[in-house]
Amino acid sequence: MGSGTKSASGAGTRSRPATPAALVVHGPNLNLLGEREPAVYGSTTLAQIDEQLKALGRELGLEVETFQSNSEGAIVDRIQAARGCIDVLIINPAAYTHTSVAIRDAILATGIACIEVHLSNVYKREPFRHHSTIADVAVGRIMGFGADGYMIALRAARNLVKAARG
Ligand code: DQA
Repeated sequence: MGSGTKSASGAGTRSRPATPAALVVHGPNLNLLGEREPAVYGSTTLAQIDEQLKALGRELGLEVETFQSNSEGAIVDRIQAARGCIDVLIINPAAYTHTSVAIRDAILATGIACIEVHLSNVYKREPFRHHSTIADVAVGRIMGFGADGYMIALRAARNLVKAARG
């Protein structure tokens, strides 16, 4: 274990790779993007979003790792595994946004700076989508811009990392 570099939020303790890294986590049903309710979520597939994120990451000097799961526990495990090797987390917890204390706790436990993304503007939708368990632990939230929201988030992530790493 090396001397350690702090995460964008300042809480990381383990060694961090020389190239800054962002982890993008997609929650349940986002594997069906492109065919799932296209009027709400657009026609871009998850594979296309991940590819665009990696390409933008190369431009911005950020390594981009992506992860999708329909399972809350798997998402918690992936966030925990990011501790010490990821500078910033971009997460669309999808339906777990509205229910998951476990994902919120994982974000707090790792101390990794987090940006919350939603394809749709949840405030234009059913009231049960208005509550987010992670809103107040995220640095910021981006919603309503479809797939572009992830790219906006990645640019914001780069600026967070720059500010934290110097
Ligand atoms: C979503 C909004 C959530 O309410 C919903 O459950 C999703 C996707 C979005 O990206 O707009 O699955 O997070």
